[in-house]
Amino acid sequence: MIKGNFPLEQLKSLPTPFYYYDVELLKQTLATVKDESSRHGYQVHYAVKANRNPRILSIIAEAGFGADCVSGGEIQSALEAGIPAEKIVYAGVGKADWEIVLGLEKGIYCFNVESEAEIKVINEIAGSMGKVAPVALRINPEIDAHTHSKITTGMKENKFGINLGLLNDALDLLQTTKHVHLSGIHFHIGSQITDISAFQALVIRANEIQDELESRRIKLEHVNFGGGLGINYHHPNHVPVADFKTYFDAISALVELRPGQQAHFEPGRSIIAQCGTLISRVLYVKEGETKTFVILDAGFTDLIRPAMYDAYHRIENLTSEDEAAQTYDVVGPVCESADVFAQGIELNTTRRGDLIAIRSAGAYGEAMASQYNGRRLPAAYFSDTL
Ligand code: LLP
Repeated sequence: MIKGNFPLEQLKSLPTPFYYYDVELLKQTLATVKDESSRHGYQVHYAVKANRNPRILSIIAEAGFGADCVSGGEIQSALEAGIPAEKIVYAGVGKADWEIVLGLEKGIYCFNVESEAEIKVINEIAGSMGKVAPVALRINPEIDAHTHSKITTGMKENKFGINLGLLNDALDLLQTTKHVHLSGIHFHIGSQITDISAFQALVIRANEIQDELESRRIKLEHVNFGGGLGINYHHPNHVPVADFKTYFDAISALVELRPGQQAHFEPGRSIIAQCGTLISRVLYVKEGETKTFVILDAGFTDLIRPAMYDAYHRIENLTSEDEAAQTYDVVGPVCESADVFAQGIELNTTRRGDLIAIRSAGAYGEAMASQYNGRRLPAAYFSDTL
């Protein structure tokens, strides 16, 4: 089995489970995103929700990216990492008052607003602070992203964004709210999207919406297409960097930006997923009557994606010298039947103490870890400071 390139001797001495981040790959990915986006003059806000590790955020800040945040906590993390407030956008269907106050105090670039109710509250709070809040309307474009139902966001029945049929009402409201300034429109149709035609459909819808807004003499400073570009979970060794060129080129071929208008993007997964690996040790190999279980010291508290979305992550036994492949179910120690990383997969013959790599776990891995069952949060190590 082909395995990733890991500094095994160093990893072997560390207590498991932990996240291992390949900083060189992150920098290479960031350079690719920068090259491909800046060729078109696009602005990129990294989606902090994918990974909020302070070291990761500071590397992303140093590379000059902005941040897409979904809470006051994420705004604080982005600022602490050195991302300037004027490069921060803030989305979310439920912004608490203190979070709105924080965004206004810090002077973030934009609030991506998702309902009339929210516009009224932001207007009131900004008014009481003597400020004008820059907002972008998050519009639900009613486009199917052809991805897992739990990470689809742009369909009519999803809770996100303002439905197309309600857009005119929201625009009417914005004409009466003096402490809110409409600076853009925002979309996000879902995550782990591998079908570029979904993004093309989004751009065409955005163009149509822009035409309608123009007929109301509304001029926008920016159009934000959100995140969602998928990665190759099956081949992290062969495709470590997502195809940003095809993505940005496809958008650029269709988008009708108005003079002076900027396009913004919010990639999360495609920036950090392949850079992170969950490293775990085998506690036991348990022979069942019909199956053999590899029981790891990592569980769904460390990486919940397989349990929550039936997500596939490539698993490699890093230390087994024995090349014979066996079929295993790879599970964690958490007291839940859902604590399964993979079923019926082939690994080199596996024994207690072997180091196991769960690949492509940099996005929504450490960020979604919990302490359920009284477990410790996973540690993080970086390739350049091992
Ligand atoms: N912008 C907005 C408004 C979002 O809601 C999201 C992700 C992104 C950008 C970044 O999307 P990305 O480029 O990472 O696809 N926990 C799930 C994914 C949830 C995504 C939530 N929103 C998973 O592990 O697959």
